[in-house]
Amino acid sequence: MYMPRSEKVWITIGGVVLAAFFATVAIDAFVMGATPPSDPKMIDPAKVSTTPPFDKPGLVQVGPKEYDANMTAFTFGFGPNVLNVPVGAKVNFHVTSKDVVHGFEIPGTDVNMMIDPGFVNSASHTFDKPGKYLILCNEYCGAGHQLMMATIIVGG
Ligand code: CUA
Repeated sequence: MYMPRSEKVWITIGGVVLAAFFATVAIDAFVMGATPPSDPKMIDPAKVSTTPPFDKPGLVQVGPKEYDANMTAFTFGFGPNVLNVPVGAKVNFHVTSKDVVHGFEIPGTDVNMMIDPGFVNSASHTFDKPGKYLILCNEYCGAGHQLMMATIIVGG
């Protein structure tokens, strides 16, 4: 069958591009480990209660004045619902949802996240002033949305 030379060139280029595409997908999936279940930022929302660190939500001291706050959001609350930290503590919030989309806002700070089921979202804040801070849900999540809150007590 007669085929103009330019057409053969384009078929070859198309084949090379396609092969490169599949190679990239294969490398991402199998070499880089980019398949969804192995991504540490993803989590099965149905298994939050049994997946560390969210099986034991709360504070973990990670430095002289630094803490990880591993927290769960659910209808209609946060786990845990009270955090006690010393003045000057830097807190790294790692939050996931057990059910629907929630918000995670600490008024008076720049912490304001959307918490999607299946993902772990993170933000940090250093609490330099003593006092009581609220964590509020700012995404409508159902009948108890306005009751969904937690407290951070920054003490001496
Ligand atoms: Cu949770 Cu609104």
